[in-house]
Amino acid sequence: MSVFRAFLVEKDAAGGFQRAVVERDDSDLPAGELLVEVRYSSLNYKDGLSASGSPGVTRNYPHTPGIDAAGVVLQSADAAFKPGDEVIAIGFDLGMNTPGGFGQRIRIPAGWAVPLPSGLSLEDSMILGTAGFTAALCVDKLEGAGMKQDGGPVLVTGATGGVGSVAVKLLSQLGYEVHAVTGKESQHGFLRGLGASEVLSREAALEGAGKPLLRETWGGVVDTVGGDMLFNGVKSLKYGASLAACGLVASPAFSATVLPFILRHVNLLGVDSVQLPLAAKRDIWGKLAGAWKLSGLAELKRSLTLDSLSGAIDEILAGQMVGRGVVDLSA
Ligand SMILES: NC(=O)c1ccc[n+]([C@@H]2O[C@H](COP(=O)([O-])OP(=O)(O)OC[C@H]3O[C@@H](n4cnc5c(N)ncnc54)[C@H](OP(=O)(O)O)[C@@H]3O)[C@@H](O)[C@H]2O)c1
Repeated sequence: MSVFRAFLVEKDAAGGFQRAVVERDDSDLPAGELLVEVRYSSLNYKDGLSASGSPGVTRNYPHTPGIDAAGVVLQSADAAFKPGDEVIAIGFDLGMNTPGGFGQRIRIPAGWAVPLPSGLSLEDSMILGTAGFTAALCVDKLEGAGMKQDGGPVLVTGATGGVGSVAVKLLSQLGYEVHAVTGKESQHGFLRGLGASEVLSREAALEGAGKPLLRETWGGVVDTVGGDMLFNGVKSLKYGASLAACGLVASPAFSATVLPFILRHVNLLGVDSVQLPLAAKRDIWGKLAGAWKLSGLAELKRSLTLDSLSGAIDEILAGQMVGRGVVDLSA
């Protein structure tokens, strides 16, 4: 059977973008060493951008988004994999200009796939997905820069979103005091359930945006939103502490001075999950399957199918998504 179902985004004559679930064929897939039957994918903010024609993400349509895929190898032209192997593929060009995990099959270079580590199921790996992986990468980089449990509370912005919710849960499980910023008043209970000890409004996190420095408060910050909230985070880091910047849902731009850097010795750390070399990806997945394995992952999961994806894409673009949308490709 080489025919499979896929979520397809097409550009119409008026320049708009239409979404439909269609039948595709293996011959619609690009060349690559691995043909993979996708069992689960997940919805990330970037998929919303791809599904709505953002040229910074996807240049050519028709296109099947899905920057995450977890499934079973059907064919392999690379000695490192054989049919039946369970693999995770995130990042690189998957779902950007290469048909992604919102189809029941992908064909990819072997260098994009990580063997599923023992300790994680295919579904668990997609409850985490790029968002959860990135949350772990932020925590890994912050700890590498010296963040410690006794160094003060850690702030997470965009906390009910994919990256934010996993960051809150992971940091809390690792013994950090977590403060979460959210725009969703109705979700304070959800965030406390994930382990946040304090929940702040976006307005509170934006106070003092015009000031050069703010009170030293945070032992670390995971910022998923960018803009003034990011630099407010930098301005309120404790001496020598760090902020990991991974997102831009509020804005890719912020106004800054050098003062926090030269007066407080703080660090602004960049985090990229996409081009991160495969060996480093494997290390982070290994942590998520081992020492950093999250208990009660299912609390974060919202079940999606190809047929319910379009509505969820609108929600993530509107900043309304809570937790992690997991797409079951068999449903
Ligand atoms: N660097 C990387 O490798 C990497 C990897 C994954 C994701 N990302 C980026 O990280 C960001 C988050 O991704 P995601 O998948 O977690 O998205 P998401 O699920 O949509 O979460 C983003 C959250 O940010 C908050 N938010 C939305 N609009 C906002 C605004 N205007 N101002 C302040 N907060 C706002 C909302 O949470 P609240 O309502 O709780 O405030 C929203 O749920 C995106 O920019 C994505 O592109 C980067």
